Order: sequence, then C-alpha cells, then structure tokens
Amino acid sequence: MHVRTFRTNSDWLGIVSVPKAIQRLIKESVLESDGYAAVKSIEETADELGIPVSDIIKLDQNENPYGTTLRVFDTLATYDHLHQYPDATHRVARERISEYAGVPADRIMIGNGSDEIIDMLFMLTIEPGDEVIVPMPTFGVYAARPPLYGGVVKVVERKPNFDLDVDAILNAVTDRTKLIFLAHPNNPTGNLVSTAQLVRILRTGALVVVDEAYYEFSDNTLLPMLGEWENMVILRTFSKWAGLAGLRVGYGIFPEKLGQQIWKVKPPFNVSVAGLKSIEAVLDDIEYLRETVSRIRVERGRLYRSLRKLNFLDPYPSHGNYILCRVTRGDAHDVYGRLRKQGILVRSYRDPWLRDFIRISVGTPEDTTTLLRALRAMVEEV
Ligand SMILES: Cc1ncc(COP(=O)(O)O)c(C=O)c1O
Repeated sequence: MHVRTFRTNSDWLGIVSVPKAIQRLIKESVLESDGYAAVKSIEETADELGIPVSDIIKLDQNENPYGTTLRVFDTLATYDHLHQYPDATHRVARERISEYAGVPADRIMIGNGSDEIIDMLFMLTIEPGDEVIVPMPTFGVYAARPPLYGGVVKVVERKPNFDLDVDAILNAVTDRTKLIFLAHPNNPTGNLVSTAQLVRILRTGALVVVDEAYYEFSDNTLLPMLGEWENMVILRTFSKWAGLAGLRVGYGIFPEKLGQQIWKVKPPFNVSVAGLKSIEAVLDDIEYLRETVSRIRVERGRLYRSLRKLNFLDPYPSHGNYILCRVTRGDAHDVYGRLRKQGILVRSYRDPWLRDFIRISVGTPEDTTTLLRALRAMVEEV
C-alpha cells in the first residue's frame, strides 16, 4: 500500500492511500509528488470561520480587489454560442493581445491561465532527467510540476535580499539544463530582474522563462530582449491586473521558432469561449482597468509605509500588487492565524525560506484600514 499525505497550503487534509492494484497504474513521479499547495477556497474558509463570504478580506492571492470591468459581465450575458466549441486558434483574442502587448499575433499562445503555459513549456522541453533551475523563493508552480514530466528541479537560493544569485545559477547549469525560471517581479519577494542579469542567464542557452504576471503593477518589462534572443519566453496573465483570475486566461510571448513548436503541445480547446471573449472585453475597457491598477499602486505605497511603522514586521519594497513581510517578533503562522480568525486572509508559507514571512496582497483603502487596525492590535501581543 502506497501512502501519501495530501495537503493544501494551510492544512494537512489527510492520508491518501493507494492500493497495490491501482499503484501499478500510476506513474512513480505522481505517487511521489505532494502536488501544488493551493490555498483554501474562500467558501471553505468562510464556512470554517462561520462568517459570510462577503465579510472576508481576501489578501492572499494577489487578485484585483476591484474586480473586473462590467464589460465582461455584459459580454458573457449576451454571448449566445455556448453550444459551439471555442476557436482553437484563439485568433481574435491573439490579435487583441498583439495590439496591447505590441508583438505579432503569431508569437502569442493563450493558456488556461499562465499556469497552463508553464505546463506546456514542460511538455515542450522535458525528457526524463532534464533539469529545471528555480531560484528560490519564488512562485511554487515552477518547482511543483517538472517532476511530473520526468524533470529534475535544481533549486538555487536567492541572496539574503532576495536578489538573483546569478553566479550560483550559472554554476547550476549543466548540459541537461532545459529551463530557467525568472519571475519579474518575483512572487512573493517583489523585486525585479535586471537586464544585465538576464543577459548573463540567456547566454547559457537554456530556455529562460521571464514571468511577468505582475507587469502591469511594475510597469517594467524585459520584452524588448525577446527581439534579440531565441531562447526566451515572456509570460503574462489577465488574472491579476485585469481581475480575471476566475476565468483563467494568461499568455506566453514566444520567439519565432519556439512559437511554432508550442502549438504542437497545446490541448485542442484549452481556453473556453468565456475566457476568450473576456480578453476582448477587458481590452475594450482598458482605461477602467488601468485606473484600478493605479489605485492599487497608490495603495501599495500607503500599505508599505504603514507596515514599516509596526514593530514586529519588516516589509520588503515591491513592484507587484503584494508586499512580503518578515515577522521579526513572534511567529508568522501565529500572525496569519490571528488575522484569519478575523476574516482577513494573507499568505503564510511552509517552505524553509519563508517560514518567518507573510505576504499581503494590496487591497482597497478600506481593506488596508481594517488590516492595519488588526495588526496594530497585535503590537503588544506578539
Ligand atoms: C509569478 C506568477 N506566475 C504565474 C501565476 C499564475 O497565474 P495564472 O492565474 O495566469 O495561472 C501566478 C499566480 O499567482 C504568479 O504569481
């Protein structure tokens, strides 16, 4: 009997046991995997806390607290072709993204969230034993998925200030290195990759994935480098700035030759019509969304300055819509738990680099005020 514990981010859910007859049907890499530790749903949390979903202040998944534009609701309410398959080539949505991002439409691949593009990259590149370099701490999906494809994750620690340790990355490269993941800005640490760092890493010849999920909050892109390098991919998403996390739409921008190959691994109808039409709708009402992004950027400044004044938190400057804080007195999980009891959800971590940290997504000014009130009440207690 193969026994494995299955977990979400906050809790151990229990033991999953696999009888021998089933075990032989399943890949060893799957049996060995813990899976990706997703946070609990808002409904489950509300049930546990005994409060309505509407009373929860959700600052744990870097979503847009203002929601998406009303255009999306109108578009979906009036779309009358749900009985027909979506366009497998995503033609119209790619053309719209092409105008928005300033890259040719044939370089764009849309995924069921940028998560799916990450999986497609593993499908495209990984043979058993191939290596994926992941500078930690960073977004958990990069390291969680490669083993499922036979890939080997090589973890490279960031410097104490979370800057990339480029020398260590270069030292970790072997002739089996296929992919190197760089989030720009990095989740959860909020810092950017410099052009000089990227050039050194591109020179390795590995496929360098520059994940710009938070580009709209940073206003800083490494996209121009794509014109000069054939071994680089940019990832973007509509989940964060455009408020479409629930609809799952993200995209990759590829250099020409790779862009042709990625179509071979794309699942046929990977993006729903709801997702494709919503891309058009948000880009039709982009000024509204840009306005929410600028409000979030202003609020990020206020949140950062206020967090600095608390004597048990050390916030890191961030180019994303979240702020990582070291808990300098008391226990990070305790701070997380106390906030949660009051219906304020932030992110805490189990991995060794971030045990003493919480990450707070930037919410509305009202969210910040409620959060700060709760944190200030802890000043004497932790
Ligand atoms: C750095 C980074 N990349 C990608 C994603 C996934 O985004 P999507 O919702 O498009 O799958 C996230 C989500 O948290 C992220 O933080």
